[in-house]
Amino acid sequence: MIREATGEDLPDLVALERALFGGDAWSEALLASALASPHEHAWVTDDVAAYVVTMVTGDLADLLRIGVAPAARRRGLARRLLVTATDHARASGAGRMLLEVGAGNLAALDLYATAGFQRIDVRRRYYADGSDALVLSLDL
Ligand SMILES: CC(C)(COP(=O)(O)OP(=O)(O)OC[C@H]1O[C@@H](n2cnc3c(N)ncnc32)[C@H](O)[C@@H]1OP(=O)(O)O)[C@@H](O)C(=O)NCCC(=O)NCCS
Repeated sequence: MIREATGEDLPDLVALERALFGGDAWSEALLASALASPHEHAWVTDDVAAYVVTMVTGDLADLLRIGVAPAARRRGLARRLLVTATDHARASGAGRMLLEVGAGNLAALDLYATAGFQRIDVRRRYYADGSDALVLSLDL
């Protein structure tokens, strides 16, 4: 059900990014470069209703994107994608995973808190709408 993303998923990923992140959405070029990069890793559900993108460099992993189409939410897809991403990062030698999340994004904050992430910092006015991002960390 969860598989590595390929270039063929690009149009679906672009549409999902736009629908989920609006003004903060990654462009097609950025998504294409993530799929091609040796440091970035992406997984999708078979129907590309959900995806996750990470970057792993040495000891540090970053959760760059995670999203689920509204119609597919609350079925455990994000949690499963997060486990896929953390398992892969750990197996690749990373000791810690970092991410940024909107301070008001209660669904994502709950997801990360139950996965064991802890708040380590805040980035003021990080998002296009001027809202803050919390920086979270998970020991792998
Ligand atoms: C956040 C998001 C990825 C969660 O996806 P999902 O597949 O619905 O999440 P899951 O079904 O795996 O839920 C896992 C846990 O997350 C939390 N959670 C998810 N949605 C929630 C909501 N609407 N309210 C409160 N907690 C929520 C819960 O702890 C949930 O566990 P539970 O169902 O046992 O209570 C999804 O809402 C989304 O794509 N949001 C828009 C994009 C986004 O904000 N991405 C994160 C950017 S940092």
